[in-house]
Amino acid sequence: MNTIYEGPYYLYDMHLLDETVKEAQASALKHNCNLYYAIKANNENTILEVIRKKGMGVDCVTAEEINHALKNGWSNSEIVFAGSGKTIREIEYAFQSNIKCIHCESYEEWEVISQIRRRYPKSSTAVALRINPDLQVDTHEKISTGEKHHKFGMSFSTALQIISKDSSIIGFHVHVGSQVLDMEYFESLSLRMRELISHLPSTFQLRYLNLGGGLGIDYTQPERNSMPDFNGWMRAIRTHLPVEIIETISLEPGRSVVGQCGKLIGEVQYIKNLDFHPLAILDIGMTEILRPALYGARHKITVSNDQLISMKYTVSGPSCESSDTFGGDYDLPILSRGDLVTVHSCGAYASSMQLRYNLRRPIPSKYQYRKILTQLKKREKALVA
Ligand code: LLP
Repeated sequence: MNTIYEGPYYLYDMHLLDETVKEAQASALKHNCNLYYAIKANNENTILEVIRKKGMGVDCVTAEEINHALKNGWSNSEIVFAGSGKTIREIEYAFQSNIKCIHCESYEEWEVISQIRRRYPKSSTAVALRINPDLQVDTHEKISTGEKHHKFGMSFSTALQIISKDSSIIGFHVHVGSQVLDMEYFESLSLRMRELISHLPSTFQLRYLNLGGGLGIDYTQPERNSMPDFNGWMRAIRTHLPVEIIETISLEPGRSVVGQCGKLIGEVQYIKNLDFHPLAILDIGMTEILRPALYGARHKITVSNDQLISMKYTVSGPSCESSDTFGGDYDLPILSRGDLVTVHSCGAYASSMQLRYNLRRPIPSKYQYRKILTQLKKREKALVA
């Protein structure tokens, strides 16, 4: 890894990614779940290679994401497709590509899908219905998706109406929101889906049930809690949906798979002494990690310089927006121009949400294989000995 600073970059701990994917897959095996990685969280080829090689499928929301997944080696039968505003071109592409399943969002979309489907009688792509369970979860309002007023999914009564007209529907999809840490919400989701299933007509054969993603990560203490609780999540999902009810449950983790393995590295440009407390302006901000500006999300920030005294800083980015700030009250060692800054937990929804605002250039990624290399070297030494 190049340690000379040549501008901001994302830094990925590939060992942690590897361990995280392994842990997710081990829990999935234990709880009879199929995992489809939500590619929107991070679509970098090097990251995707690890995830695909460990056997996860992929969840896409645009034709471009489907195409990207195919180019990155996923086979069509490992791809599912959601998206709240699918265009005709995208639906056609899904049928042409013979992906596993389209998640239909509404009655109106089902009408469009049905029309297009007639033109692809040989396509193996199935259709499932996305349910809006009207379930409130504890997360930021802008990343909550399962309540009645949200734009996602359809009511169960609409789903029943569709099922009565279309015998090809294979099952259901649901996703209640992102960065959910309290497992009780997944238990409630499990119960809600169990209730829905109990009202299905006896003629309906449930072949597919996908409960989305949403498992949160620890943004406050990312080093101490670098591994999300996959086991607890899947156990909660299985509370009211044991294998006797549905043998395999599909899930779509995104953030939990990649969130903690990525960091964003930048540099202090200026320290401005404002009346209240000092402001550090960095060369990274909302264009590289949009989450603080968009949701007020708080990411841990660290600096390693040789200062022993710390003080409170407001930390901001360089873009022409007052919202381009990481927030106030960051307790940091006394900063100087040129200090390197690490923003933690930037593996998910950072590089994939980069902006070109102010014509800022996309920044590169570096991949750290340190621990894997050490292991390989040890093995080599053992072989030579
Ligand atoms: N499945 C569906 C249908 C989704 O909409 C999402 C995320 C996922 C799976 C993956 O959810 P996860 O496991 O990552 O929570 N940009 C926001 C997050 C937006 C999530 C959108 N949908 C953020 O930075 O917090």
